[in-house]
Amino acid sequence: MKILVIGSGGREHALAWKLAQSPRVKKVFVAPGNGGTARETRVENLPLTDIAQLADFCVAEDIHLTVVGPESPLAAGIVDHFRMRRLRIFGPTQGAAQLESSKAFAKAFMQRHAIPTADHRTFSDALQAHAYIDERGGPLVVKADGLAAGKGVVVAQTPDEAHAAVTDMLERNTYGVRHGEGGARVVIEDFLQGEEASFIVLVDGCNVVPLASSQDHKRLKDGDFGPNTGGMGAYSPAPVVTPEVHARVMREIILPTVQAMAAEGHPYTGFLYAGLMIDAQGRAKTLEFNCRLGDPETQPILMRLKSDLVSVLDAAIDGRLDKLELQWDRRTALAVVMAASGYPEAPRLGDPITSIPKPEDDLRVFHAGTVLDHDVLRTSGGRVLTVTALGDSVRMAQARAYAGVRQIAFDGMQFRQDIGYRAVKR
Ligand code: AMP
Ligand code: GLY
Repeated sequence: MKILVIGSGGREHALAWKLAQSPRVKKVFVAPGNGGTARETRVENLPLTDIAQLADFCVAEDIHLTVVGPESPLAAGIVDHFRMRRLRIFGPTQGAAQLESSKAFAKAFMQRHAIPTADHRTFSDALQAHAYIDERGGPLVVKADGLAAGKGVVVAQTPDEAHAAVTDMLERNTYGVRHGEGGARVVIEDFLQGEEASFIVLVDGCNVVPLASSQDHKRLKDGDFGPNTGGMGAYSPAPVVTPEVHARVMREIILPTVQAMAAEGHPYTGFLYAGLMIDAQGRAKTLEFNCRLGDPETQPILMRLKSDLVSVLDAAIDGRLDKLELQWDRRTALAVVMAASGYPEAPRLGDPITSIPKPEDDLRVFHAGTVLDHDVLRTSGGRVLTVTALGDSVRMAQARAYAGVRQIAFDGMQFRQDIGYRAVKR
């Protein structure tokens, strides 16, 4: 059978690689793909991004199923369109994807259903937002309402920083956020303390199967300093998600969300990602929902998944997740992102990349912002590569991944030296 993966990042390279391992798969198309998927066995890039054209392609090529990597096609309604044309696709509808595409929708939803999250207010009027910041005082988090590729969030330690963020988001739109119909809006919420984790599950409208836990490093610099990015590294499992925390998150966050989405007429299908803040007592609050897999979390998660991903997605599309049990490699997987010079503000593109290590059982380099230009591999995006390794402990996975990183070079490359440090300390 043939499969289609939509997207062009490290997450999509990992999905394509994993799907191509299935004995039932002849070819995986990746639209539009990158320099890594161009070279992957049984994988082929497809230079299409238009939803109707993608659907035409699925009909013409008899594609068995489509899986969507990034949020934008989901928010644009690709699942609704494919379903209307009776094509098999895994992801949430446009209505369900609002859990990610609108912070204001997600916060109001959580408030309505008593799903733990930080207290918040939503504003479209800058004066009122500024007044709320003065009234609240202390550290606050200001979030643009709309898709901003992980960059529309300002953690403001002081009211001055919060005021500046509101001005940027409501008055100038410096972050390039794609607003919903209501125009520019911001969510201002209380600052939460604790340790973050990514909790990603498969949902078929009613049944839920959790994937292995993971943790991402969102800041650019070692020790979690510097600006927020799409993610500079990740590992799985995340020790902060103990069995008790896991049970609690399922009971207090995931299951109520899935039930309430169905009750409100937006039954959720697809990957659902809850970004959590877990406090010292093991209580978790939801920082955000994403309606897709995380990037780079997917890379270590899929390195550990032993089950056949095609069968897993088939079960999810057919509403049979209650019958599914996933098999995991017991080792830890750890991924280090190598980013371009100037990332995240203004990544420089076009630098040649040398000597990518050959894939092995315990080391794989997933490509993100790369392009094959007459057989020369060049950078073509902010996050360039994710070097992903398996090891018997976090430390061993870390050592293996960084050994891979040291073999790679391109001008101006940036990467963190400390991916996994919280898990090593535990
Ligand atoms: P978000 O896109 O909403 O997940 O926010 C991006 C990042 O900002 C998160 O991964 C956190 O590191 C940080 N963040 C978001 N909301 C809060 C909050 N209420 N308290 C503390 N940090 C937050
Ligand atoms: N790594 C964070 C995300 O995918 O949103």
